[in-house]
Amino acid sequence: KTVSSMDFQFSEEHLMIQKAARDFAQNECLPGVIDRDEKQQFPREQIMQLADLGFMGMMVDTRYGGAGMDTISYVLAMEEISKVDASVSVCMSVNNSLVCWGLETYGSEEQKQQYLTPLARGKKDGELYIGAFLLSEPEAGSDATSQRTTAEDMGDYYLLNGTKNWITNGSSASVYLVIAQTDVSKGSHGINAFIVEKSWPGVTVAAKENKMGIRGSDTHTILFNDVKVPKANRIGEDGFGFKFAMKTLAGGRIGIASQALGIASGAYELSVKYSKERKAFGKEIMQHQAIQFKLADMATKVEAARLLCLKAAWEKDQHLDYTLSGSMAKVFASETAMWVATEAVQVHGGYGFVKEYHVERMMRDAKITQIYEGTSEVQRIVISRSILK
Ligand code: CAA
Ligand code: FAD
Repeated sequence: KTVSSMDFQFSEEHLMIQKAARDFAQNECLPGVIDRDEKQQFPREQIMQLADLGFMGMMVDTRYGGAGMDTISYVLAMEEISKVDASVSVCMSVNNSLVCWGLETYGSEEQKQQYLTPLARGKKDGELYIGAFLLSEPEAGSDATSQRTTAEDMGDYYLLNGTKNWITNGSSASVYLVIAQTDVSKGSHGINAFIVEKSWPGVTVAAKENKMGIRGSDTHTILFNDVKVPKANRIGEDGFGFKFAMKTLAGGRIGIASQALGIASGAYELSVKYSKERKAFGKEIMQHQAIQFKLADMATKVEAARLLCLKAAWEKDQHLDYTLSGSMAKVFASETAMWVATEAVQVHGGYGFVKEYHVERMMRDAKITQIYEGTSEVQRIVISRSILK
């Protein structure tokens, strides 16, 4: 026999984490998920519980308040939670992959002590303590280098002015990682990333969006008016901000891909269950080949999306370049989520069109995974640049 390094088996620890996430999703997220979606209610209690489980800083070193788990564990947990409540999982994904990862990888020791440690715990003095990532602006989404928020170098501090929009955790976060222009003439090399506290003078949490999906997640516009940001709160060298954003988003895309995977696998599982219960023309609908084929296609696409997510996570854990695999996972899993959730509504017939059966919410939630952290078109730009270079 030849020795092979391929291993499709999870470790005992992975399975335990997966089970903990599944139990949490079923016991703590499922009750009330329809109501929170209807009322656009932020899942504060659920996020506090996730913090207690160590899931808000899953991959952060235990020295900095994290759980010291690997990216595979993160994918497994994200999938299980997203099967039930994608509003909870987007909050978890932003805090883990965009905020904590960025600070742990590029932050100074002081920044890690002061900010990363409570952010990874998800709590400070017993209160919720999470972060947000502020790149997008009203006039600059996909075209992220054309942003207009300015951070003027004033000597010992930067003066921050501008508007960021679509900010996940906008009102619930205490800490913002803000990407802003310091020197427009330098293009992407004139951009910096800063740690800004929501409570500082000149920071305003503006309008909350009324959304199609992930309605429990609080998405806000954030305004900066002459906000003084100490030099010590810049992340990395002068001009590192755009690379910081791109590097951070490369890992974030694994998180959103896993969210999409969870929405898809959740909608698929509900469809299998329903097709065994519902009868039409004298037999369970699963006896009709048209339904069987839908379920077969769903299962195949979900499995392919899962393998892409795990491959990207494995590459990240092995310290390999995961930019390409992360984008492939994100574009494939998000398109799978949209397709599977739409078919799940079809399998449920009229019942799929009402809130009680969950799949209509999943269809609405799935759509955002094709838009944020880089649209499907942006992922195709990243993929094609990589394969054609
Ligand atoms: N790693 C390191 N550096 C990178 C990089 C990466 N993955 N990608 C780009 N760069 C560097 C480039 O090398 C280049 O630097 P040099 O000049 O030194 O070579 C610099 O960044 C500029 O890169 P590009 O010329 O490729 O930039 P571009 O203007 O063509 O844009 C893009 C490329 C991929 C479209 C990028 O703008 C992008 O990703 N846009 C989408 C933005 C996005 O994903 N926003 C998400 C916001 S957060 C969010 O959405 C959170 C949430 O919902 C929950
Ligand atoms: P545009 O960039 O204006 O794109 C419009 C359309 O044109 C899209 O289909 C796009 O793919 C296409 N397009 C643009 N350029 C090209 C091109 N070169 N080639 C082909 N097609 C192209 N941002 C943050 O910074 N932080 C957050 O926490 C955050 N959370 C979000 C939460 C929600 C609910 C939403 C809706 C958005 C969030 N975003 C966040 C913003 C999100 O990342 C952007 O909406 C996204 O990057 C797209 O930007 P845009 O909306 O400006 O669309």
